[in-house]
Amino acid sequence: MRRPASLLLAVCLCLCLTVPAAAEAGGKVLVAYFSATGTTKAIADHAADILGADIYEIVPAEPYTDADLAYYTGGRADQEQNDPSARPAIAGHVEDMGQYDTVLLGYPIWHGQAPRIISTFLESYDLSGKTILPFCTSHSSGIGSSDDDLHPLAPDADWLDGSRFPAGTTREEIAAWLDACGIEAASQVGAFDFERKTVMLNSGYEMPIMGLGTYSLSDEECYNSVTALLQAGGRLIDTAYMYGNESAVGRAVRDSGIPREEIFVITKIYPGAQYANPEQAIAEALDKLDIGYIDMMLLHHPGTNDVKAYKAMERAVAEGKIHSLGLSNWYVEELEAFLPQVNIMPALVQNEIHPYYQENDVIPYIQSLGIVVQGWYPFGGRGYTADLLGNETISAIAADHGVSSAQVILRWNLQKGVVVIPGSSDPDHIRENLDLFGFTLTDDEMAQINALDRNEKHDWY
Ligand SMILES: Cc1cc2nc3c(=O)[nH]c(=O)nc-3n(C[C@H](O)[C@H](O)[C@H](O)COP(=O)(O)O)c2cc1C
Repeated sequence: MRRPASLLLAVCLCLCLTVPAAAEAGGKVLVAYFSATGTTKAIADHAADILGADIYEIVPAEPYTDADLAYYTGGRADQEQNDPSARPAIAGHVEDMGQYDTVLLGYPIWHGQAPRIISTFLESYDLSGKTILPFCTSHSSGIGSSDDDLHPLAPDADWLDGSRFPAGTTREEIAAWLDACGIEAASQVGAFDFERKTVMLNSGYEMPIMGLGTYSLSDEECYNSVTALLQAGGRLIDTAYMYGNESAVGRAVRDSGIPREEIFVITKIYPGAQYANPEQAIAEALDKLDIGYIDMMLLHHPGTNDVKAYKAMERAVAEGKIHSLGLSNWYVEELEAFLPQVNIMPALVQNEIHPYYQENDVIPYIQSLGIVVQGWYPFGGRGYTADLLGNETISAIAADHGVSSAQVILRWNLQKGVVVIPGSSDPDHIRENLDLFGFTLTDDEMAQINALDRNEKHDWY
């Protein structure tokens, strides 16, 4: 599961932590434009703003004066347009054009064509494989052949049909155009996409927002549960060295026939011997899972050598063995002490979260760092589940929506921006736990569940 994050984490950078470069080009957009009198600039600004895209102004090394722009006077602009080989120089350049997958290219119409400086721009970069979407402004002419005539200058790009806009085109009109062209806004790190059912991590990878926890599942139960999850369309699996079932998870993933990159597997290494020799612990996890790479590895909880273990995981990220890193059972104080000691900002923190233990102070803090929060024990954990699922408030809300209490609790998590990984060995429950997108809790219902908090932790971590 991957997609580059284009707005990678100002917050991370503030903390002087790094995030790995996006793994592969896929959706990062550049809006590049030339505008002599500001009309095209306004369109470019709207587009970049709507898409959360980078913007680059093509600035002539020698600025155009009013006399240069006075058309039908034989001035500089007229002369350049009469000379197809004219290549006016550009001041500056795009930093790392390679990072962009799509380029929106804006220009004014000059005598029915793009200004020659657009030719200079196109010939200055290797644009092969990139999608180029031209747009222009004009006094009255259409885009005509101006966009098609640019194609030979970037012959290996994938050119989309261009569009012409008059001065004063609104933001809404630009948004509708981008939508019609299929150009999507960059995914915001940490924001849940309820249509794709995923969240963009600060590592540049996309992770499903609901999946399966495998704590306490025996090998056979685990194999069957992961298989049921994958068959039901679930793609996120949480395991750990300590659960003793990594091999079963790996086997179910391999046997599923589902492309590896569609599945997201989280595992964890444990304090003690594993933190003391983290390279071996990582190798062991890779070996047991036997699924090529690990999507995400967490430290299971704070402990001696946790920084050392995390740094070994950072090296494994650099080697491509692990894609994303995270922590489990880290709270505000622990994070404040830990983060300054490491280089890669964790992509995820996994903590105990349920209606009786809501962590309402911790969750916003973690999210403010651009870290995604994931909850374990969503139904309160062993010995508490019947009480929580039978809770009057939750049951009433469930009845109103015609869903189960479990679905209400999971949906409440999702609406708080918390990823859910309920554990289950029952295929019916596994399917039900994925079925969270046919109803929405109202603000009032969210508030009713929020009011159930007892700050009652059900496990010792
Ligand atoms: C040299 C030159 C030639 C132009 N030729 C045309 C033209 O053929 N058709 C047209 O409708 N507008 C033409 N225009 C007007 C511009 O296309 C129009 O004002 C455009 O929106 C300006 O964009 P800008 O403010 O981003 O530079 C021309 C302008 C200049 C300076």
